[in-house]
Amino acid sequence: MSNSGEAELLHTFKGVPFTTRSSPELLKSLHTFDAREDDLLLVSYPKSGTHWLAGVITKLYNTQVTITSPIEFGDISRLEELNKLSSKRIIPTHLDYNMLPPNFKNKKCKMIYISRNPKDTAVSMFHYYRDNPNLPTVDTWTAFFDLFLKGNVVCGSWFDHFLSWEEHEDEKNILFLFYEDMKKDLPKVVKEITLFLSLNVSDNDIQDICKKSSFSEMKNDTEKENSDPTHTVCALTSNRKLIFRKGAVGDWKNYFTPKQNIRFQEIFDEKMKLSKM
Ligand code: A3P
Repeated sequence: MSNSGEAELLHTFKGVPFTTRSSPELLKSLHTFDAREDDLLLVSYPKSGTHWLAGVITKLYNTQVTITSPIEFGDISRLEELNKLSSKRIIPTHLDYNMLPPNFKNKKCKMIYISRNPKDTAVSMFHYYRDNPNLPTVDTWTAFFDLFLKGNVVCGSWFDHFLSWEEHEDEKNILFLFYEDMKKDLPKVVKEITLFLSLNVSDNDIQDICKKSSFSEMKNDTEKENSDPTHTVCALTSNRKLIFRKGAVGDWKNYFTPKQNIRFQEIFDEKMKLSKM
C-alpha cells in the first residue's frame, strides 16, 4: 500500500490503525471521558453512511443540539472541549465497542449503529483512500481488496467492528440501522429513529426531512457551503466534498471479480458464522 512517507499517516492503537488526526494521547485518555446521560452516539465503520445519518438526525430536533466532531478526532484538548459544551451532544464515532469510553455504557447513553453491506463499504473506502490525502495511497482495487479483507485499513477489520457492536444489539439503548434499508424506505427508518429517540415528528415533517436528505440534495448543499476545517463527522477528513461519491447499493458488482467475490464470501461466512446478519 504505502511507501515510507505515507506509512506515517497511520498509527496503531490497541491493534487498530488510526490516522494521525487521532492523536495517541487522545486515544489513551478516551477511557476517562465523562459521558452525559443525554449524549447520543452515532456509530459506524467508515463509509457506512455516517454523514447521511448525521444529516437526518440533526434535522429531527427542534431544541438546541450540537453535533460534535468524532470523539476520537484531534488531540488531548478534545475531551475538555466536549466537556465545555452546554447543549445536548450528538457525538459521532468510528470506535469499536471495546474502545468506547466506558462511561457511555455505564450511563446507558443512546447509540445508533449504522452498517452497510461490507462489499459496498470496501468499494466506497477504496475511493476514499484514493481521494483523501489523510490516507495512504493505494494503487489498485486488487491491492485494496486484500488490505480490506485482512483488516489492514484505517479503523481495522470491518468484521471485528461489526461483531463488536452486534454483540450488544439487544440492548435497549442501541439501535441498529442498515444503509440499504435507508435507501429502500427512508421515511420508515426515520420513523424508527424518532421512536427510539422519543421525538415527536409529524409524518409531513418526516417526508420533508427525507427530501432534504437525499443524496443529490446533500451533495449540492456540500458543494455550496465552505467546510469548516475544525468540524467534521468523520475523523478521517474535514472535506465533505470527498463524501458524496455515488450513494448507490450494489456498486461492488462493478469492482469485484468472480474470484474476489468467492473469496470474500468464504471469509464472510467464516468470520460471521455466529452473527445474525
Ligand atoms: P459511496 O462512496 O458508495 O458513494 P460515510 O458518511 O460513512 O463516510 O459514508 C459515505 C458513503 O455514504 C458514500 O458512499 C456516500 O456517497 C454515501 N452517502 C452519503 N450521503 C448519502 C445520501 N444522502 N444517500 C445515499 N448515500 C449517501
